[in-house]
Amino acid sequence: RTHRVTIAGADTPLTVAVDQPILDAALRANAWIPHSCTQGTCGTCKLKILSGEVDHRNSPEYTLTADERDDALALACMATPRSDMVVETLGAVDDGVPHHPLRDYSGTVTELDDIAASTRRLVVELDSDMTFNAGQYCELIVPGSAVGRQYSMANPPSEPRRLEFHIKLTPGGVATDGWIFSTLTVGDPISLRGPLGQFNLVTDQEEAAILIGGGTGLAPLKSIVRHSLDHHLVPELYLYHGGRRQEDLYDIEYFTRLSQRHDNFHYRPALSEETWSGATGLVTDVVLDDFSSCKGMSAYLCGPPPMITAAVKALKRRRMAPRLIFREEFTPAA
Ligand code: FAD
Ligand code: FES
Repeated sequence: RTHRVTIAGADTPLTVAVDQPILDAALRANAWIPHSCTQGTCGTCKLKILSGEVDHRNSPEYTLTADERDDALALACMATPRSDMVVETLGAVDDGVPHHPLRDYSGTVTELDDIAASTRRLVVELDSDMTFNAGQYCELIVPGSAVGRQYSMANPPSEPRRLEFHIKLTPGGVATDGWIFSTLTVGDPISLRGPLGQFNLVTDQEEAAILIGGGTGLAPLKSIVRHSLDHHLVPELYLYHGGRRQEDLYDIEYFTRLSQRHDNFHYRPALSEETWSGATGLVTDVVLDDFSSCKGMSAYLCGPPPMITAAVKALKRRRMAPRLIFREEFTPAA
């Protein structure tokens, strides 16, 4: 069974199955609804319901309060239609970036390597090309379940068949402990859906960009760095990768070589719990030491929420405009 959901201002209604989140149907039809986490934890995808009935399913109370439900708001990534509906998006629909339709993909694991402490690189060869923006992510489907988990592409969009992911172990986690770090092996088939998210390189910046990744938060930044350098999109790029000890860092040689080949690319790995030949301290403190002013610059932050909060604070102290601070938070599923 399906219902017709019209996004106010759009010509054609979406056909949405009764058990399908409105966001999923919209992105498959290449109709853009601003979104970030696709799992009900960020609130970016809020819609106003102008007419019709919605099922909020398990939209968390901390993202969508009782008052907001009374005000006819809904989370597009969670809510399914109970009738034909008309909805309005709250965020900007045209953010100036090309959007690519969401699709289901199948592929095969071609590489699975331990690259740092409790961290694996997973490479998937897709059966067909995926068009995406540097910075976006996919949802990997845990076999034999309906569980999907988000992982950012580390490869640039110029490699549309070979997707690279950096995955950190969550002890007891369904996708990581129960699958990627236990039963998954090279040659296994994989199902995923993508691309998702709006963590993108904004290309009209004339000033330098600072990229800060914590742990596997390096993944989308690697894609952005490669894309930017290959197409000369940002005049100056500073990549910071934070970890606790040397065993937490990876791809050091790769980025060192890249910085030797490109005068405008600077790479600064930082360790918070070990003194070594590189920068020592919390990655955000290292950034504060390196820049006396970040006015006019932009930043791309990715990793666990506490790191992002600290980085935003540090950059604002250095006078970076909040609208030029872009972030992807690796929030755990609700
Ligand atoms: P779950 O079964 O979801 O979690 C098990 C338990 O651990 C739960 O109680 C949960 O609340 C808790 N938990 C889970 N994660 C954490 C945490 N970080 N801190 C504290 N408690 C936690 N991860 C990557 O490694 N690489 C990526 O590129 C990546 N990209 C992401 C992109 C987006 C947009 C989002 C939202 C998340 C991303 N993540 C990424 C996180 C990833 O999607 C999973 O949440 C993570 O791998 C844990 O999944 P799991 O099924 O193993 O654990
Ligand atoms: Fe829907 Fe985050 S709550 S995209």
